[in-house]
Amino acid sequence: MERLQKILANAGIASRRAGAELIKEGCVTVDGRIVLEPGARFDPSQCEIKVDGKPVKIHDKKIYIMLNKPQGYISTARDPRGRKTVLDLVPNVGARLFPVGRLDRDTEGLLLLTNDGHAAYTLTHPKFEIYKTYLAVVEGVPAEEKLSLLRKGIRLQSGHVSSPAQVRIVTVSPDSAVAEIKIREGRKRQVREMFDFIGHPVRSLVRTHLGRLELGDLKPGSWRYLTKAEEDWIREMSAGPQERPSK
Ligand code: URA
Repeated sequence: MERLQKILANAGIASRRAGAELIKEGCVTVDGRIVLEPGARFDPSQCEIKVDGKPVKIHDKKIYIMLNKPQGYISTARDPRGRKTVLDLVPNVGARLFPVGRLDRDTEGLLLLTNDGHAAYTLTHPKFEIYKTYLAVVEGVPAEEKLSLLRKGIRLQSGHVSSPAQVRIVTVSPDSAVAEIKIREGRKRQVREMFDFIGHPVRSLVRTHLGRLELGDLKPGSWRYLTKAEEDWIREMSAGPQERPSK
């Protein structure tokens, strides 16, 4: 017996969080009855689960695509307002892909698309401590003591204190600098907020790494399948001892 939210994620319908929303919105039925509780447990082989009236098929084949998200696209699988989404940039691969985590509309860079809800959960939840690396062009040149504030953690507008970041200046020019920052969280506009906090607003932002996955020379708007070694790393992360909830 598995939680409904996890069954949807494993079937590639949505990430666990997005699946929970679908359930709470009343889009999911089990044997013809609406279930509103994401944690309700079922055996997917013994019941018929439908989302928006369509039967859920349990896919075995997991697909992983790395996209270099260009600016101007939103990182959701569907947008009720009809804006361009990252799924408009990849071909139909016969599975329902969704993005792993989010990049702002004006952020570029590495975005993983998959139908593997379990991997999506592992790669985004802060407890698994998978670092995301960004290159930020910021206004002015931040002093070391300001970078130290980011290394220690700052209080974000939400009230959450950011976990320790690794940050260094890569290049400087008269009125700006390129900073590399590694964080293991992915809160909304977090990197922009962190640099705003120290008085050096971000002019442009690119995600270059997600754990061991590296954007390399993939051009904005281009995509590729992950290599076997990259897929193996994801499986290792998803199946490792760290999957056990931390105390
Ligand atoms: N932090 C941001 O500010 N924006 C992103 O898109 C990702 C991380």
